[in-house]
Amino acid sequence: MGFLSSVEVEKSEVKKHFVRHGFIFACTDKSEETLLSNRIILTGKNYANKLFAVKEGDFIFLYNLDKDVLYGTFTAKGEPGYDKGIPIFEGRYPYYIRFETTQTIKKVEKASSIFRSLNISWRDILTEKGALLIKNILEGRAINRLRKEEIIDDKYIPPMMTTTLWDYPYQSYGYTRKGNNKYPGVTPAFIIYNLIWRYTEPGEIVCDPMAGSGTTIDVCLEERRRVVAFDIVPTRKDIIQADARNIPLKDETVDLVFVDSPYGDNIKYNDHPLNIGHIPASSEEFYEELEKVMQECYRILKKGKVLAWLIGDQWAKGEYIPVGFKIYERLTKYFSPVDVVCVVRRNQASNTPFWHSKALQHNFYLRGFKYLIIVKKEENVKRKEVKIRWNFYERW
Ligand SMILES: C[S@@+](CC[C@H](N)C(=O)[O-])C[C@H]1O[C@@H](n2cnc3c(N)ncnc32)[C@H](O)[C@@H]1O
Repeated sequence: MGFLSSVEVEKSEVKKHFVRHGFIFACTDKSEETLLSNRIILTGKNYANKLFAVKEGDFIFLYNLDKDVLYGTFTAKGEPGYDKGIPIFEGRYPYYIRFETTQTIKKVEKASSIFRSLNISWRDILTEKGALLIKNILEGRAINRLRKEEIIDDKYIPPMMTTTLWDYPYQSYGYTRKGNNKYPGVTPAFIIYNLIWRYTEPGEIVCDPMAGSGTTIDVCLEERRRVVAFDIVPTRKDIIQADARNIPLKDETVDLVFVDSPYGDNIKYNDHPLNIGHIPASSEEFYEELEKVMQECYRILKKGKVLAWLIGDQWAKGEYIPVGFKIYERLTKYFSPVDVVCVVRRNQASNTPFWHSKALQHNFYLRGFKYLIIVKKEENVKRKEVKIRWNFYERW
């Protein structure tokens, strides 16, 4: 695939800062014996991202929800994997991590009351201290009282969002940098994390045609996706110089496209004459040029796959410009809508007493959110007409 192979990065190249963690995975009476005897944890989509946060050497515990019993202490062996053909439970749980145990398996009853007394949930990711605490409980040793913040690491991976309001206070998460938070208009990494876990599987190909400081690359590699990134002015070696209106990839080769485009000419990225960020959002030319990017995204996406476009409105020189709606209108000329998410804007340069007082004085609002427009390239099938049956109620 030409360009793609030059930037594919194997998982061994992903530099990870190793801090040991502990992971509790759930099972039921039906799955307990199979998991313990095969020394393997299997999950479906719901906990896939948690399972992929496990690294070789991390602590693992198995929690039987039916019996309320916790088993351990295990050590992760190898890296997590994804295999749809796994011959256990007919491949219904394709995400896996193997584990080993050096001593006889210990168990504790009434595990939920232990979690409650520690003020944690089995879904949390444990710090090394927290994992050792659970290990000591399993071994019947005396334990030290720890604060919740010492037991769990809630910044290791971002939360999976389940509503259309996305808010996370930091640009990055975990122990490795994602993009460069000094880059103008850098994308919050949790957005890309959520998109790739929703719309792709490990090993699939993600493209960012306006990659800036490379946040998409860093998130994708950590989550074992293949990634190909372009920018009109690359900021690092793994970004290829290209115009997003002419992406050097073959048709229908990509599983997800993420675009965080300029929102107008409000940010100075670079002086390149083809930088779309020189065109003001008040001019139709801005949308025409971005429509060419949309057409390219459509061309390179496989059928049935998703494009996610992050965009914010503008309030400039006394004028409100609904950039998000205008982009939505153009996108849906080619794609079908999947959803629109409202992403809370944090750490904005305008979040200062000076700008808040200007907003009141001149009767305008500071931008508080961005749109994440999620659209899909349809398969060849015609969309089914949905028949709505209305109920009529008497008026009071
Ligand atoms: C909002 S920034 C992207 C931020 C990036 N996602 C990150 O996290 O650092 C928009 C990017 O679009 C790039 N850009 C502008 N015009 C372009 C074009 N014609 N082709 C490719 N990239 C372009 C800019 O150079 C800038 O890096």
